[in-house]
Amino acid sequence: MNLLVATTLAVAANLALAQFNYSFPDCTNGPLSSTVVCDATQDPATRAKALIQMFTDEELTQNTDNVSPGVPRLGLPSYQWWSEALHGVASSPGVTFAPSGEFSFATSFPQPIVLAAAFDTDLVKAVATVISTEARAFNNVHRAGLDFFTPNINPFKDPRWGRGQETPGEDPFLISQYVFNLVVGLQGGIDPTPYFKIGADCKHFAAYDLEDWEGIDRFHFDARVSLQDLSEYYLPSFQSCVRDAKVASVMCSYNSVNGIPSCANSYLLQNILREHWGFDDDRWVTGDCAAIEDIFDTHQFASTPAQAVADALKAGADVDCGNFYSAHLPEALNQSLITRADLERALTRQYTSLMRLGYFDPAESQPFRQLNWSNVNTPDAQALAHRAAVEGLVLLKNDGFLPLSPDAKSVAIIGPYANATTSMQGNYFGNAPFIVTPFQGAVDAGFQVQSAAGTTINGTSNASFAEAINVAKSADVIIFAGGIDNTIERESRDRLTVAWTGNQLDLISQLASLGKPVVIVQFGGGQVDDTELLANKNVRAIIWAGYPGQSGGTAIFDIITGATAPAGRLTVTQYPADYVNQIPMTDMSIRPNATNPGRTYKWYTGTPVIEFGHGLHFTTFKFSWQKQPAARYNIQDLMSASKGGFLDLAAFDTFQVHVQNTGRVTSDYVALLFLSGDGGPTPRPNKSLVSFIRAHDITAGSSAVVDMKVALGSVARADENGDLWLFAGSYRLVLDIGDGVLAHNFDLVGNSARIVQWPQVPSS
Ligand SMILES: *[C@@H]1O[C@H](CO)[C@@H](O)[C@H](O)[C@H]1NC(C)=O
Ligand SMILES: *[C@@H]1O[C@H](CO)[C@@H](O)[C@H](O)[C@H]1NC(C)=O
Ligand SMILES: *[C@@H]1O[C@H](CO)[C@@H](O)[C@H](O)[C@H]1NC(C)=O
Ligand SMILES: *[C@@H]1O[C@H](CO)[C@@H](O)[C@H](O)[C@H]1NC(C)=O
Ligand SMILES: *[C@@H]1O[C@H](CO)[C@@H](O)[C@H](O)[C@H]1NC(C)=O
Ligand SMILES: *[C@@H]1O[C@H](CO)[C@@H](O)[C@H](O)[C@H]1NC(C)=O
Ligand SMILES: *[C@@H]1O[C@H](CO)[C@@H](O)[C@H](O)[C@H]1NC(C)=O
Ligand SMILES: *[C@@H]1O[C@H](CO)[C@@H](O)[C@H](O)[C@H]1NC(C)=O
Repeated sequence: MNLLVATTLAVAANLALAQFNYSFPDCTNGPLSSTVVCDATQDPATRAKALIQMFTDEELTQNTDNVSPGVPRLGLPSYQWWSEALHGVASSPGVTFAPSGEFSFATSFPQPIVLAAAFDTDLVKAVATVISTEARAFNNVHRAGLDFFTPNINPFKDPRWGRGQETPGEDPFLISQYVFNLVVGLQGGIDPTPYFKIGADCKHFAAYDLEDWEGIDRFHFDARVSLQDLSEYYLPSFQSCVRDAKVASVMCSYNSVNGIPSCANSYLLQNILREHWGFDDDRWVTGDCAAIEDIFDTHQFASTPAQAVADALKAGADVDCGNFYSAHLPEALNQSLITRADLERALTRQYTSLMRLGYFDPAESQPFRQLNWSNVNTPDAQALAHRAAVEGLVLLKNDGFLPLSPDAKSVAIIGPYANATTSMQGNYFGNAPFIVTPFQGAVDAGFQVQSAAGTTINGTSNASFAEAINVAKSADVIIFAGGIDNTIERESRDRLTVAWTGNQLDLISQLASLGKPVVIVQFGGGQVDDTELLANKNVRAIIWAGYPGQSGGTAIFDIITGATAPAGRLTVTQYPADYVNQIPMTDMSIRPNATNPGRTYKWYTGTPVIEFGHGLHFTTFKFSWQKQPAARYNIQDLMSASKGGFLDLAAFDTFQVHVQNTGRVTSDYVALLFLSGDGGPTPRPNKSLVSFIRAHDITAGSSAVVDMKVALGSVARADENGDLWLFAGSYRLVLDIGDGVLAHNFDLVGNSARIVQWPQVPSS
């Protein structure tokens, strides 16, 4: 969504109106009180339908934007459908932080790109549970809505994407697992009754991963995507969110998909979303902010505004984050481009969802309505934000220098992030209770600390180099804190380069030439090409810290000192800088060919600088199969063993791995299981992640046994229609990246069999 524009508008409009005036429907004395609408013993859909039938045509057309004025004559108050909570309750049109005191801040977790790098689904759920608790507490004092336009689950396919930081990375299986646990944590269960905790919103549906690149922006872009890539790459995360976690809402995106704007795309919104995945009528679709207007304005898909809103409403976009619906639905109705029933359908979906959030029921009967300020920023929440940052940090390089020897007493913190505060929060953040800067993290860890920025993120002047070098000379260890930030990668701006920006590498090179040990702490959601730093012998270690949130500085020094051992893994490929010259951002194809080097670790034909899944440890491990896996699986037996439920979720097998810590320090270990094989259409992926789990606190000398569950859907591959098949062939499982640390070959025998039939585009 276009938060920048919205923020600017809000500021311009009137600061006094900044706080949205939430209240609850009058079910005590108002006209609704004696009706079924306020009868909590009836089912939500019946109550919502009864409510909507009381609306006049005009009241229907006017309650279709993200700001619903409500119906005052019925005692139905206005409602703001747009709040944000990407990694904590976040500043947005629906959220107002108090200027000071109670409700002036909320826990600020790491960005999703960092949280996902922990490869810890329980952690994701725990974080989401705290976010929803704090969000409800804010709602109870009218400082937030009940619906949050989060998470962003488009795969981070192109390293230039300005919003890749908001996502869990490039792998569709990882994103699917992440979003399932996140949405369950946010909503308070899978389709919980009687009440949802808050409503989440999976965005941006679909194939949205470009902001503004070489003059092509997201508002005009038409993503040309094959059904094979849609089914296998772009949509598994949405399936997990919608079908399995049962999210309350979905956001259609700015871009077109194969010539049709997403928000007017009935193939996406009806055939896939509602029919294939079972997104029911107690759930709603919102357009991204101004996306419905763009059906007319930028895509010029409809010839009049009335036609544009009719196309969107009929396709299944229920809410306009904007005001094109309220402005033009009356004309559309007048011109018979839509019917009253079309409007009722959209509003019934929205208000059924609000019923399920308890909006129409008395506070006394609702546990979530008891949440208050004492539930925000609790010691447990603070500890969790800290733990999430530590778990998500990734050790990219280490020659044995880390953890730091206790002999190191003084550090010089150089670089643009030395005293970073909000820049460690990335984007879509709220006011944090505190932010521990890298400088403060070093002080708290007991070092004598000196610092100098030396340069800025994109600085070209070396005027401050000398000061930085001078400061560095007097320290035992030089720590360079830099990388990229939200001026380089952000909403509405993609990167043109994936090299280090400005003169940061020059400064690092001069620091390294002092002959003292240099440790790099690399920030930013997207990767930058570290080739030069990997080759520089005085650069002893590189830690990727992403956007680590409120406890960033603490977490970084936990790893540097060895207070905690690192175990995070990269969730994206680090490409060589030249990658940006090899493929345009606009090319949506993930498979390689003569002119396309392929995308992500699955398909890239070049040599990555650092592989997806890379992450070093302070200890060593030894691996073995706890139980020798089977050498062959019969496809027909697998199919018949899995009765009921979705075949792609049915069990393939569970692989038990014995992990022994053979080193000297306690450490977590992230077990990643990849599959490669010769089944199915070519070109085939190099490999695919099929299972992962984070084993915690394996003490030196001891072992853990991890159960790696693999589902049929992970073994399946898509054909050109997008159908998923178990293809007969020879396959290889490998634990961990590269050539792996443990492998197993098996055959899939019998007849290849289709496990999922993908919806085809209806002929018009
Ligand atoms: C907020 O809403 C309440 C109830 O709907 C209304 O009485 C009050 O005047 C509103 N306040 C503002 C500042 O608009
Ligand atoms: C429809 O629009 C026409 C032309 O503006 C207007 O004269 C007419 O009253 C409208 N009809 C309704 C039912 O609103
Ligand atoms: C606030 O929440 C706490 C913890 O859930 C609870 O003990 C307390 O009674 C609540 N306070 C109010 C005023 O509701
Ligand atoms: C960071 O903050 C500390 C403490 O305020 C200060 O001494 C130091 O000079 C600052 N460093 C930079 C690079 O601004
Ligand atoms: C800064 O740049 C100037 C001009 O390129 C060069 O002469 C000078 O040696 C540089 N100084 C440092 C400290 O790199
Ligand atoms: C650095 O980036 C900022 C923000 O995009 C921009 O305003 C500034 O001009 C850039 N500076 C240089 C030297 O590129
Ligand atoms: C390679 O794939 C791209 C899409 O990525 C397509 O536009 C192009 O025509 C293909 N080239 C060949 C030689 O098949
Ligand atoms: C993927 O496979 C291609 C072709 O076999 C190979 O050239 C490439 O190195 C592989 N890439 C990765 C990241 O393994």
